[in-house]
Amino acid sequence: MRSILIVGTDKGLGLALTRKFLDNDWRVTATVRETDDQQEINKLREAFGGALTVMFLDTIQNDSVVTFCEKLPESTSFDIIYMNAGVWGPLHQSAAEVTDAELHQLFMTNTIGPIRLARRLMDRLKDRGTLCFMSSHRGSVDRNIEGGLELYRASKAGLNIMARGLFSEFNRKNITVLHIHPGWVATEMGTLDGTVSAEISVAESIDGVYAVVLRNMESKKNLYLDYKNMEWAW
Ligand SMILES: NC(=O)c1ccc[n+]([C@@H]2O[C@H](COP(=O)([O-])OP(=O)(O)OC[C@H]3O[C@@H](n4cnc5c(N)ncnc54)[C@H](OP(=O)(O)O)[C@@H]3O)[C@@H](O)[C@H]2O)c1
Repeated sequence: MRSILIVGTDKGLGLALTRKFLDNDWRVTATVRETDDQQEINKLREAFGGALTVMFLDTIQNDSVVTFCEKLPESTSFDIIYMNAGVWGPLHQSAAEVTDAELHQLFMTNTIGPIRLARRLMDRLKDRGTLCFMSSHRGSVDRNIEGGLELYRASKAGLNIMARGLFSEFNRKNITVLHIHPGWVATEMGTLDGTVSAEISVAESIDGVYAVVLRNMESKKNLYLDYKNMEWAW
């Protein structure tokens, strides 16, 4: 049975991705925060039994990262590690207005946290394994022709360049690193808590993301792709 670790799964795309991999007979380790309402992930646990392991992880708390890594059973290794957890950041999205606390939460969650965790888990990624990062089209420097949303864009562009670094450093393990834009999706984040309309449903996004991951895993490439498998300019 192939195995995947998915980070940030109590709702939205992470929850749907967890269900998708379970439906396709993968063994899934899914993380939630201790403070989350865990109803939905518990329903999956009831439905899929031993195929789903749920663990606690807050990616911006170093203690939580250390405890999570220590609690992973020694025998556990993954074909895919998928860093999904992310935040939109402050609604003003302005470098002129941002507070230290807002900066910390945004860049630790979207940029540094996923890379710190990936580095600590590299020995749990199988040779020829695949690291996936939930990026965004907003992280493309090339396609930023309209400006605005500068904080979120910078957090995902930073994630892109740091993940590229991991690909270069760990190529001796023949890894694949995928940066995936899931589309503009109707989740809490994608609708800014229900105040705007998104372009696609969670199901459409996740069907696409799943197909993209399966198609490109173990390709030994570093790719920036959307949920339709279109390559994005960095
Ligand atoms: N929706 C879109 O249109 C869209 C477009 C492009 C990219 N993305 C990216 O897709 C990913 C998922 O977004 P979504 O739309 O599903 O958003 P969402 O519904 O707001 O879900 C975000 C997930 O990230 C988790 N998370 C946030 N901070 C965390 C932390 N410190 N530690 C652990 N987990 C944390 C959340 O857990 P809590 O409930 O505990 O906060 C939640 O499970 C994000 O990386 C986002 O940037 C989304």
